[in-house]
Formats: sequence, C-alpha cells, structure tokens
Amino acid sequence: MPPETDTKTSSADAAKPPKSKFTADRGWPGSFEGETVTRRSFMTGVALTAGGVASMMFALPALGFALGPLFEKTNHISLLDVGPVDEFPADTFVPQVVTTTAGIGEVGKTLVYIRKNDNPTPEQSWPFVAISNRCAHLGCPVRYIEAAKSFICPCHGGTYNFEGEVTGGPPVRPLDRFETYVQNGRVMLGARFSVNSQLERVPTRDPGEHVDGVWQVLYPPRPTT
Ligand code: FES
Repeated sequence: MPPETDTKTSSADAAKPPKSKFTADRGWPGSFEGETVTRRSFMTGVALTAGGVASMMFALPALGFALGPLFEKTNHISLLDVGPVDEFPADTFVPQVVTTTAGIGEVGKTLVYIRKNDNPTPEQSWPFVAISNRCAHLGCPVRYIEAAKSFICPCHGGTYNFEGEVTGGPPVRPLDRFETYVQNGRVMLGARFSVNSQLERVPTRDPGEHVDGVWQVLYPPRPTT
C-alpha cells in the first residue's frame, strides 16, 4: 500500500486545472492578451537562429577546406622516362624538366637534377640520385652550381651540398628527391619524397616543414602533398 503522503500529492495534481497556453494567463512579464509566446521569447529565438546560421556560414567552408584533402585521391605518379642510363654520370648532375602533374600546362612541370648513384646506402639505394629543385625553405627553384658542387637558392641564400643537405641559410631540411628505376636501359623517375637530416626517406612534405624529431609530429604530412 502506498504511503499516505504520495496519495495526497497525486490527488492535488489531479485537482490542478490545466495550464493555459496564453502568456497573459500565466503571468509572464511583458505578455499581452491573446499571445501564446512573448515578443521577448520570439526575438530571442530569432536572434539565436540567425546567429547559428551565420556561424555555420563561416564554419562549414572552413571545415570543408581543412578536411577536404583527406577525402581526395592522391595521384600516384606513373614512372617518367628521363633518358638512357649513360646520359647521367656520377660526378655531376644533369637537369631534366619533367611533368609531375599532367593537364595543367607549365605549372605541372618541375626541374629535377639527376646523377648516377655511385655510393648507394641503406637509406638511399636508388640506382640514380634525383634531386628536386624546390627549395625546402619556401619553394623557390634552386640551381646546381658545378664549380661549387652545390645547390644555391636565389631567394634567401639557402645552400645545399652535393647530396642536397643544407649547408647554409634558412632551409629546414634537405632537398626532396624522387624514386629512380632502370627499365630497358632507361632511367625512370617515380614518386617524390622528402628526406630527413640523415637522408632517410620520410613522407613528402611542403616546403618549410621540419621532418626531424618532434617536428614530424607537429608538422604532419598533407595527404595530397
Ligand atoms: S626559398 Fe630558398 S632560401 Fe628561401
């Protein structure tokens, strides 16, 4: 049997008249006769809705811009034929213009410096060394200077040695490289990749991004780089 107090409460609730839908009947401040919602409540709702819509108009494009590349297909470069193997000696670089992104004209072309790899290492065992001319500082085109056996960047004075390692100026990592293969006596270029200060391969990064130590976590690779 339920306690006596519960019975009293239920009886009181049952006796209560239903709430009026009119704000004036409920005694709400600022209410007028015949209103079911006060003007203040109505305007608050309108302002909140407008604020939400305005926020979404800013937030959605920004989100799309930030997350869109995650859903894009990364273009896997097909092998590029750059010439017969005997065109590339081991003691100097031969520049070659290659198309890395087809269908966008001159913008899709880049210059690659190629030489025979006479000193393969566990990190770099490719038959040829193919070094990108994109400076690892801000992306200016570097130039190979034979007399100094070095790459020089004209923009901010970045310098790199024969292996593409930084020897001076603001660049934050060695020059990027390309995979190389030999097919039917010809040198073929594969995908571009970045290297750390030990010349170990790391995922391709944009210019200006560090790839050593904790920096590789702070600068994660962009999926479509
Ligand atoms: S872009 Fe090459 S040093 Fe700045």
